[in-house]
Amino acid sequence: MTTMTTQPTPVLEARDVTMRFGGLTAVRSVDFTVNAGEIVGLIGPNGAGKTTFFNCLTGLYVPTEGTVSYKGTVLPPKPHLVTQAGIARTFQNIRLFSNMTVLENVLVGRHTRTKEGLWSALLRGPGFKKAERASEERAMELLEFIGLAHKRDHLARNLPYGEQRKLEIARALASEPGLLLLDEPTAGMNPQETRTTEELVFAIRDKGIAVLLIEHDMRFVFNLSDRVAVLVQGEKLVEGTPEIVQADERVVAAYLGEPFEGDPGEAEAAEVEAAEAAADATSTTSSTKGEAK
Ligand SMILES: Nc1ncnc2c1ncn2[C@@H]1O[C@H](COP(=O)(O)OP(=O)(O)OP(=O)(O)O)[C@@H](O)[C@H]1O
Ligand SMILES: [Mg+2]
Repeated sequence: MTTMTTQPTPVLEARDVTMRFGGLTAVRSVDFTVNAGEIVGLIGPNGAGKTTFFNCLTGLYVPTEGTVSYKGTVLPPKPHLVTQAGIARTFQNIRLFSNMTVLENVLVGRHTRTKEGLWSALLRGPGFKKAERASEERAMELLEFIGLAHKRDHLARNLPYGEQRKLEIARALASEPGLLLLDEPTAGMNPQETRTTEELVFAIRDKGIAVLLIEHDMRFVFNLSDRVAVLVQGEKLVEGTPEIVQADERVVAAYLGEPFEGDPGEAEAAEVEAAEAAADATSTTSSTKGEAK
């Protein structure tokens, strides 16, 4: 009799990744895995090194130490080769071609999957026109998927902020990735947009694309993620299921400097403040007593 064991298949494996900027170590010896079919959250206070880590994964930065592998092959630290291998990303600060239409932005995202290439797409040569016809159907499919098909001819810069973020996701998906990295996908979104983005991320995962996301919206991250890793001062502090991470008091402590909305840390911070105020009152009383002696 054979027993079925479900071994996770790693899609992304970062080994001992360190990134130094002069004297500052922004990412320190981070081991990190994303498995097929997973949504993984990466959280941590401002300046923890989350975006820097993404930049190391996607070849934007050459890590000072360590390696990044995709589906078992070590990636060369070159953004276009990383995209070609199958990793797509969005940026914390939206990077769209603002004077191009919604559809054109998605078509540009396809350049790694068409032989015409980026310049042909930007210069709109005859090669691009032909590839455009072939790609347009797929691009429109993606626009329908993210709910922006009706705005195909709008200039990207005229879209509201939340829709620009979604368009970036469509552009990333246009490279047909096996892993999608999202850097703060709901930043600047209203609650309604955040909810539809949550559904969108589940739908992306259901298409067989693994997702790694950086977020400060804790409800969003904990609802979505199979696993969450916490980065603090460049180091991975805790990693586990949302339940494990939420219950870890080191995580709360790491955030106490800047409690976030709805976070248990907020209540704790209030408790600590109250306790400190009480302690102050006591010490004032006792020192007054002391002085009176
Ligand atoms: N190119 C760079 N040169 C020098 N220092 C950098 C560079 N990029 C990032 N840093 C520094 O590395 C540290 C980590 O920054 P990073 O942007 O990765 O943080 P983050 O976790 O993404 O924060 P946030 O949640 O605010 O986006 C910060 O101290 C930052 O100033
Ligand atoms: Mg960041």
